[in-house]
Amino acid sequence: MSKVIAVIGAQWGDEGKGKIVDLLAERFEIVVRYQGGHNAGHSVQVGDQSFVLHLLPSGIVHRGKTCVLGNGMVIDPKAFFVEADRLTQQGVEVSPERVKISSRAHLILPYHRALDHTSEERLGNEKVGTTLRGIGPAYEDKAGRRGIRTADALVPDVLRSRIERNLEDANRIIEAYGGEPLNADEIFREMSVLTERLGPFIADTTHYLNVAATEGRSILLEGAQATLLDVDHGTYPFVTSSTTVAGGAIIGTGLAPHRLNGVLGIVRTYTTRVGEGPFPTEMLEGEAELGQMIRERGREYGASTGRPRRCGWFDAFATRYAAEINGFSSVALTKLDVLDTLDEIKVCTGYKLNGRVCESLPAVSQDLRRVEPIFETLPGWQSSTLGTTELSALPTNARRYVDFLSEQIGVQIGLISTGPERSQTIIVHDSKLGQWLRDNE
Ligand code: IMP
Repeated sequence: MSKVIAVIGAQWGDEGKGKIVDLLAERFEIVVRYQGGHNAGHSVQVGDQSFVLHLLPSGIVHRGKTCVLGNGMVIDPKAFFVEADRLTQQGVEVSPERVKISSRAHLILPYHRALDHTSEERLGNEKVGTTLRGIGPAYEDKAGRRGIRTADALVPDVLRSRIERNLEDANRIIEAYGGEPLNADEIFREMSVLTERLGPFIADTTHYLNVAATEGRSILLEGAQATLLDVDHGTYPFVTSSTTVAGGAIIGTGLAPHRLNGVLGIVRTYTTRVGEGPFPTEMLEGEAELGQMIRERGREYGASTGRPRRCGWFDAFATRYAAEINGFSSVALTKLDVLDTLDEIKVCTGYKLNGRVCESLPAVSQDLRRVEPIFETLPGWQSSTLGTTELSALPTNARRYVDFLSEQIGVQIGLISTGPERSQTIIVHDSKLGQWLRDNE
């Protein structure tokens, strides 16, 4: 049975991965984040306690799990300790025995945050709408071969000289756009204290994970952001700067590709997007009120930034593309209950561009802004599915909707979430995922 599984969002993020990863985490020994940083926001509810995680894998709230922050991540040490301290206050153990940070992961420094702000201001109307956490600039430094990795930061001379060199360039940009230059000594002092505290957590996680896989230990690879925000495959340039798709789970951990034996896609019954960028099925103009209703019912506000999320109909065309890139073995469908009150539900099954049906997702963002979605309308069910735990208990039209989405995506749906609580879940017993969950009870 599958021992190494990646969980990936199929849309533009916020598909409800937190709940699903949390549900799975207790069945795995090791839970790993492999890309991104504290731009993510996962809400996890355990009993009457709720946790918001940005940087740490969801496994952290389960006793006895080892959590890994892989080499593909960018880590702001200050944000790490804010989160670790908050979790400790909530009774969660965040110790070097439980949490391992890759020695090859890159650090986010104060000038990355400043550059993120400057870059967004420079772009004006064309801005990406980033989380302003310094994610993009940290990945730019990584690709530009001037980044500071966690292990480098433990060597004071290396840390100082890289900060000095990088800050020279960063300050030039910051000042050119009217910002206040940052001070290298101050940054060095602040980072020295933080990285010294970080030291015991730093490990060769690549070796650790490959040995663990060889020993047959189970590993859950927890994706952050989502497929359509991937730096290569997403709606570029309105994307994050990391590889969010299943392939990124390999690059961002150093696990050999053959280790990955399952990919679970997380799909929400409708679509949302935070920040700027094309969104073909967005509820606008005549549908703005509907979008607002879904935002309220689905509590669609960013867990990291509190920003309201843009809401739209389910985009089966884009989700099919996500299934193709990631090779989903199964899909978990979330937030069915949010659509309970609608009398009709639209699903986008394809796009037209310049009057022609698109064969595949257009690569150019301007085209994605112009495409006309081809919609199919399904009847709603107008009754409550909140908390339903059996497929057979779903209203007929809700069942039809779920089956239609599954057909459209081309992957069997193994789990349906009918509310924020863990218990508010339907497991489709005769699905691959259902069987896997039973076997790993
Ligand atoms: P960045 O990752 O902060 O550089 O932001 C780039 C884009 O990704 C922006 O549109 C953000 O709103 C979006 N983004 C980043 N993290 C998340 C997330 O966890 N959920 C949804 N969108 C995100």
